[in-house]
Amino acid sequence: MGRGTGFGKVILIGEHFVVHGVPGIVSAIDLTAYAEVKKIGEGITIKDERKGAKGYTEKKRTQQKESIERMLKTMGIPLEKTFLQIRLGGDLPSFSGIGASAASSAAITRAIAQELEMNLSDQRINEIAYEAEKAYAGTPSGIDNTAATYGGLIWFKKNLTGGPNIIERLSIRKPVEIVIGNTGVVADTKKMVASVAKRKNQNPEKYDPLFKEAERLAYEARKALEDFDLRKVGRLMNENHDLLQEIEVSCKELDYLIDLALEHDAFGAKLTGGGGGGCMIALTPKKELQETVATAMEKQGFKVLRAKIGIQKI
Ligand code: PMV
Repeated sequence: MGRGTGFGKVILIGEHFVVHGVPGIVSAIDLTAYAEVKKIGEGITIKDERKGAKGYTEKKRTQQKESIERMLKTMGIPLEKTFLQIRLGGDLPSFSGIGASAASSAAITRAIAQELEMNLSDQRINEIAYEAEKAYAGTPSGIDNTAATYGGLIWFKKNLTGGPNIIERLSIRKPVEIVIGNTGVVADTKKMVASVAKRKNQNPEKYDPLFKEAERLAYEARKALEDFDLRKVGRLMNENHDLLQEIEVSCKELDYLIDLALEHDAFGAKLTGGGGGGCMIALTPKKELQETVATAMEKQGFKVLRAKIGIQKI
C-alpha cells in the first residue's frame, strides 16, 4: 500500500491577487490530509473519509474525479489500464478555503507514487499537484499546492510567463495561534477565480489600483512577520480583507465572523482562500486569546479550527 500526506494551509495575505502575479504569503497549518492507495479493484475508486463541511464531498465529486485523472496523466500513467483504490483521511477537514483540495492532491500523488514505486522529488510532486489543482481552481496560482507539498511559511509569486514561480521560505520567531472560522457555505474556488478575472478585465480603472495596493501589503506583511510585529501583521490582514471586499469575494457570513473575531480582540482577521463562503482566519497570538475568539464563534454555531502558523516541521 502507498501512503502520502499533504499540508492544509491558510493564505495570510494575497489570495486572488496572487493568481495575477502579485506576491502572496501562505502558511501550512498543523493539520494534514492523508491518502492510502492500493493497486486493486476496478478502475479508480475514491473513498473520502475526511471530516467535512456538509455537502463538500458531494459538491466537489466531479472536480475530485477530474483532478485524479489530471494527476495520472501528468504522471504518465494510462487511465484505462489503471486500477487504484484510494482512501482519503487525515485531520484536515474538507472545508473550503484551507487548501483541502491541494492537500489531498499532494497526499494522493505521494501515495500513488509510493504504490507504483515511482521515486518523485518534492518539486515533481508539487508540479503534479498543481495540474490536479486546475480541476478545482481553473487557473490556480500554484500557492495552495506549494504549501501543501512543502509545508512551512512561504512567500510565493507566480511567474506569469510560464517560468518557475518564486517560492521562498520565511521564518518567524515562533509559531503563532490562529482561529479558522468556517461559514459552512461550500464555495466554488473555480467560479470565484474566474469572476475576479472577468471584473478585473472589464474594470481596470477600479482594479489596477487595488492590485497595486495588494502588492504593497504583501511586502509590508513579509517585513512585519520577519520582525515578529504581530500587531502590524494583524492590521495588514484587516487591510487585505478590505481589498477582498472591494474585489467582491467576501460574503455576509465571512464579514460577520471577521467582525466577531475583531470584537473579541483578534489582532486581525480576513477571509482565507477563494472566499464566497468557506473560511476566515483570525490572528490570535497565545492560547488564551485563541480560545476567547474560537469560543465566541462556536457560541454562534460556527465550526472552528484552532491552528498555528509558522510551524516549520510538522
Ligand atoms: O479556496 P482555496 O483554499 O482553494 O484557495 C484558493 C486561493 C486563490 O488565490 C483564490 C486561488 C489560487 O489558486 O491562488
